[in-house]
Amino acid sequence: MCGIVGYVGRKRAAPILLEGLKKLEYRGYDSAGIATLDEGKLHVVKRKGRVEELVSAAENLEGNIGIAHTRWATHGAPSERNAHPHSYGGVAVVHNGIIENAGELRAECEARGETFSSETDSEVIAHLIAAAFRGELLAAVREGTARLKGSYAIAVLCEGAGNVIAAAKRGSPLLVGKGGGSVLASDLPAAAAFAEKVYALKDGEFALLTEDDVRLFGGELKEIVRDPLKFDLKEEGAGKNGFSHYMRKEMAEIPVSIANSIVDLKAQSRFLAINIVLCQTYYIQIVACGTAYHSGVAAKAAIEALARVPVEVSVASEYRYRDPIVPKGTLVIAVSQSGETADTIAAAKLAKEKGATVLAVTNVAYSSLTEVADVCLLTHAGREIAVAATKSFMAQLAALYSIASALADIKGRSAPSLVSLPALAEDALARSERVKGWAQAIARSKSVYFIGRGFDYAAALEGSLKLKEVSYLPSEGYPAGELKHGTLALVGEHSPVIAIIGDEKVADKTMNAVFEVLSRGARVFLVTTVEGLGEGTLPKEDILTLPACEGVYSPLLTVIPLQMLAYETAVLFGLDPDKPRNLAKSVTVE
Ligand code: G6P
Repeated sequence: MCGIVGYVGRKRAAPILLEGLKKLEYRGYDSAGIATLDEGKLHVVKRKGRVEELVSAAENLEGNIGIAHTRWATHGAPSERNAHPHSYGGVAVVHNGIIENAGELRAECEARGETFSSETDSEVIAHLIAAAFRGELLAAVREGTARLKGSYAIAVLCEGAGNVIAAAKRGSPLLVGKGGGSVLASDLPAAAAFAEKVYALKDGEFALLTEDDVRLFGGELKEIVRDPLKFDLKEEGAGKNGFSHYMRKEMAEIPVSIANSIVDLKAQSRFLAINIVLCQTYYIQIVACGTAYHSGVAAKAAIEALARVPVEVSVASEYRYRDPIVPKGTLVIAVSQSGETADTIAAAKLAKEKGATVLAVTNVAYSSLTEVADVCLLTHAGREIAVAATKSFMAQLAALYSIASALADIKGRSAPSLVSLPALAEDALARSERVKGWAQAIARSKSVYFIGRGFDYAAALEGSLKLKEVSYLPSEGYPAGELKHGTLALVGEHSPVIAIIGDEKVADKTMNAVFEVLSRGARVFLVTTVEGLGEGTLPKEDILTLPACEGVYSPLLTVIPLQMLAYETAVLFGLDPDKPRNLAKSVTVE
């Protein structure tokens, strides 16, 4: 899972490619590399670490044509040797995806005397294309990729093929663009930064980029004519806006993100297709990964409470391999910030095959998930750069609560209004500054437990994930009532507990769990929307009271201080919360 970029035009390729890599670094950042063709000869530079490490080594590379890559390791440790581009026999390749039969293909190549210089699954692609090259690069790419099993988006340079880049896609995203040269990239913002017209490749298609033109081809190499994508990237502001980190800046954007993502689905004709789907919905399955899964957990609770429609929520990687039962009339909601998460896309495809209608809730128009889905509800969080999702989680909740509210209406029930939520989130954000003080104690602990019940359980899961992601502290989110059935054994002086109570109806019950952990010597920090709760039990400084809010929507508020706590703890540890080790923002492989 990685980012790839390519350029051919009248300018020097290296600075453009490095700029493109910086835009794609959210997809992986353990190593990076670049290849250019200069006077017909390949030049390859690679570095372990972030794109920044590559800049000084590569920016002076000559050549008006090149390809580049930023990596998140799947096969082979992060190292210079395993960084892309991989080259063999005058062919250089950058690859995003996983080649599942790489071992078998590599053995074939080795049997005919070819040597490999990396442990990656990707290098074999360069070998296959080099073996197939007889003067026509696109034909060689077609022949070489025909042998591949798995997923790929590739860009290929070849000595002796002229000033062309060939590209192919199956299962991983790839866009090509033209205007001021020709480009290719793994996502729309990177492609649109250097091109006026951008085209999305579909699975099984190929592209040929020259200085003056971009041509698309189908599986039989028959040329395809396609309309360019319509896009508006105005909201793609990328600076840190005075904050030290993107994560904190993106948290500041939470109220706007919520405001922009709440929709009255019943009131606007542009949502007619979604309304028609919801009118036919009696059973819902939600599939998602990571933070998006947690928004699904919150949505299940909200949809069931408000609309009384049964909802099953699954981690997409589990759903896709368990032969799920999809009764007739099931609506599958696939939630994904990026719209590129491989497991979520596979789960959505499987659900469709089994007859479900798929509704995508995603932050990225023209993502792979929007291609698969029958209908889409876009969230409007704006571009999120920090790997740990913050404002996009809130946007997902806002969109999913909008669905819950519309569905309740369809079922003849009433749902509380969503309109005050952005202002409440603004207030919660301001109050959350106080958890900076808690971070000192959290940073000294061995492990941290987040507990909540009902709506608060989703918040507990997300609070714990955030802390793990950016501070690397062991942590677990747990249903408050279940704690005593095992996890309580781990709680003590060095294992604080964060209790979340956004739902007044279960306040007393969750407080029982608080008493249980207090009596085992653990420090408890309480995040609540219930005025006065915890007073007399906990020290004042260990209670954060947020504005009062309908319990069903309370994760929109209670998760804010938990994100803040994770952020402040990472900063205390001197870690970079924007780029946690081993993680990537968009996981495009399974
Ligand atoms: C990765 C990211 C998470 C994200 C998850 C799902 O693991 O690091 O922050 O929640 O993927 O991503 P998606 O784009 O599908 O929401």
